Amino acid sequence: MFTKSSVLLFYLILTAGAVPHLGAPPIEGLSGISIPLRKRSTFTGADGVFDKNAAIAATIATQNKHRQNLINLQNNKGASFFNPGAAILPLATLPVDILGDLKKKRQAEPLTDENDDVEWAGSIAIGTPAQNFVIDFDNLWVPSASCSSSTCASKAKFNPNSSTTAVHRPGTFSIEYGDGSTVSGAVYTDTVTVAGVKATNQAFSTVTTLSTSFAQNPADGILGMAYPSISNLGENPFFTTAHSEGAVRKNSFGFFLAANGSELYLGGTNEKLYSGNIEYHTINSTSGFWQIPGASVKVNSTAALTGFQTVIDSGTTIMYGPLAAVQTLYSNIPGSAPVESVNGFYSFPCASAPKVAFSWGEGLDWEITAANLNLGLLAAGSSDCVGAISGEDLGLGSDVWLLGDSFMKNVYTAFDFNQSAVGFAALI
Ligand SMILES: *[C@@H]1O[C@H](CO)[C@@H](O)[C@H](O)[C@H]1NC(C)=O
Ligand SMILES: *[C@@H]1O[C@H](CO)[C@@H](O)[C@H](O)[C@H]1NC(C)=O
Ligand SMILES: *[C@@H]1O[C@H](CO)[C@@H](O)[C@H](O)[C@H]1NC(C)=O
Ligand SMILES: *[C@@H]1O[C@H](CO)[C@@H](O)[C@H](O)[C@H]1NC(C)=O
Ligand SMILES: *[C@@H]1O[C@H](CO)[C@@H](O)[C@H](O)[C@H]1NC(C)=O
Repeated sequence: MFTKSSVLLFYLILTAGAVPHLGAPPIEGLSGISIPLRKRSTFTGADGVFDKNAAIAATIATQNKHRQNLINLQNNKGASFFNPGAAILPLATLPVDILGDLKKKRQAEPLTDENDDVEWAGSIAIGTPAQNFVIDFDNLWVPSASCSSSTCASKAKFNPNSSTTAVHRPGTFSIEYGDGSTVSGAVYTDTVTVAGVKATNQAFSTVTTLSTSFAQNPADGILGMAYPSISNLGENPFFTTAHSEGAVRKNSFGFFLAANGSELYLGGTNEKLYSGNIEYHTINSTSGFWQIPGASVKVNSTAALTGFQTVIDSGTTIMYGPLAAVQTLYSNIPGSAPVESVNGFYSFPCASAPKVAFSWGEGLDWEITAANLNLGLLAAGSSDCVGAISGEDLGLGSDVWLLGDSFMKNVYTAFDFNQSAVGFAALI
């Protein structure tokens, strides 16, 4: 999310495991539809050491993704919808030495090296007859048949001329990424199917300019699961369209992210994957994010910070908080220290991993396991580990944290448009 030690995406993608479902009719009944997800890798190398460059690249991708979300929110609704203190920051760019290092690494690795895959990958079909793609979930885009660049060579490409249901829309789609490249192209509507869940007249982009950073990414494109207000195209995202057309009964979806068996569940939650009730928290959907107010974080059962906002984002790996807040958090952890040369990251003694838990309102403490808090050894032979909570100004607002899948892997997460709520439940 994605996504791979690739420079860019950290969005959700569905797995190739979903392919056999493509084109299947929607499953009738009260249950929703389960889509298997492929594991996202960590920032820990084979030697157990923290992969600093991959983490920096991921952080920059996260900054730029949320920068783009703010640009979209401003275009769609206006800056008055921003969180207090939110701002569109300058495009974050990857230092050239890191870019060079990652490029070298990419060239040395086979194209579909799963260990290099830090996104959640899956499949969709577009058009009539269906053209298949492996995608990320964000604003929906896929490569165009007109894309002749070398980056597009390994990708599935969409040809609107071969789909009887494709309709060209005026305007263009464009996103800038931190490696100096842009993804852009024409806008179409067509039928989009994910695991049998169909959305007709779904807006998406067919890109003709594709960043070289996508070459190593096994995904072809991207599809989104947030609110329409942060849609780049200013249109309803896939799930909103599919629900409005009755393709799923419940206007909600659930995520189970784990080392294996990860899935996205469309149209409700998968009760087989959690125990007890889901603890729901009403979100402030003004910002267009899945943003829960009233958060607290504890270190070993002692409150470290209270009363902040949290955006829950399956498309991000790491947990990010405002610089000062994250510094305060680590000041509660003896032996912790900033990681030199990697802004915002901290280490802690591996042998005494703290119990870090987030809670909302009067809800339960949702603890992060020692494994999920750990991005790897500070260096080979070190007794310090790098924490999965990093201080970073993403521009989302002065008291806004972004909790990625380092948090989500500890819980079952329900995203409920109907109740405007995010819920957490205990894993089985
Ligand atoms: C929701 O967020 C907006 C800013 O994005 C803020 O103005 C508003 O007061 C918030 N509402 C609640 C109920 O917290
Ligand atoms: C589709 O057809 C039009 C008109 O013939 C042509 O200009 C365009 O290049 C075609 N697009 C693709 C992707 O082949
Ligand atoms: C998860 O995958 C690993 C490696 O493939 C395997 O050894 C393990 O048994 C799997 N665990 C479960 C619960 O399926
Ligand atoms: C927190 O708890 C862990 C595990 O019980 C322990 O190793 C660590 O020393 C504790 N840290 C603090 C700051 O109390
Ligand atoms: C939608 O939410 C309302 C409460 O906000 C609830 O009463 C209703 O049952 C929900 N509908 C579905 C389909 O979950």
